[in-house]
Amino acid sequence: MTTQTSAETAADQGRRAVARSLVASWERQQEAYIAHRETRFDLMLDLVERLSPSGPDRPRILDLACGPGSLSARVLDRFPQADVVAVDLDPLLLTLGRLDHADRERQPTWVRADLRDPGWTGLLPVAPYDAIVSTTALHWLTDEQLATLYRQLYALLVPDGLLLNGDYLPAGRPWGAITTVVREIGESRKDAAISAGADDWETWWSAVRATPELAEEVADHDATFEGTTRGDAPSLELHVRALRDGGFAEVELVWHDLTEGLLCALKTGSSSPER
Ligand SMILES: C[S@@+](CC[C@H](N)C(=O)[O-])C[C@H]1O[C@@H](n2cnc3c(N)ncnc32)[C@H](O)[C@@H]1O
Repeated sequence: MTTQTSAETAADQGRRAVARSLVASWERQQEAYIAHRETRFDLMLDLVERLSPSGPDRPRILDLACGPGSLSARVLDRFPQADVVAVDLDPLLLTLGRLDHADRERQPTWVRADLRDPGWTGLLPVAPYDAIVSTTALHWLTDEQLATLYRQLYALLVPDGLLLNGDYLPAGRPWGAITTVVREIGESRKDAAISAGADDWETWWSAVRATPELAEEVADHDATFEGTTRGDAPSLELHVRALRDGGFAEVELVWHDLTEGLLCALKTGSSSPER
């Protein structure tokens, strides 16, 4: 009995060590694509701190398309008493998040759900939320899926709640000389980060695939995403329109760098005279 317990613990510890290392390289990999990712995270937390209706002490926060929990971890670092629900479709990334957070005093509630499924909100353990946050994910949805999702998020927020989407927010088409140069600058930043040791997306996934401790989750990941295709990402203009059509009273682009941005939307705005 004792032998079995210690064997289980060793296997568990092995998986945790693997997860910690893969989440650390995930952070560098994502930063290669989003040069000022940490600045954007900080700004998101500042906005939650100032705008969350229940104040910064114990906000209830939904992290959408959480991946391995990068944003959830930062939320819990800033607001140690927060109630965090972290949603993603990918079983592999959810497992990495769960293992990487295992030593924390307070854990997010991890939920596996497909944001394209109109019934996904039924899988949430609690509602409503003070803030809904998301990074680098909603651009995977089609224009129609995004419009439906924003309407659902409006309904999931408390009356003065806020939505923060830090995402790839490209200019509308047709693209021209400016958008071409913007993309080239983004590429050269990414190349510099990779030369400095960051993985690119494909290399990171190859490392995951080469990890025997995660073989089951990799198989589940492959089955989940088999046949998934992606079209053009919704434009910044479309995000803003979909948020307004979804009912949000105030919608602001509060930060932007090349094609990356941060949209902040308030369910119930307080209009003031223009200055
Ligand atoms: C580039 S990752 C970003 C993860 C994390 N938010 C971050 O900033 O590091 C995109 C995430 O979106 C998730 N995702 C993609 N399509 C999804 C869907 N239909 N429903 C839920 N999550 C989805 C992926 O599994 C992945 O975790």
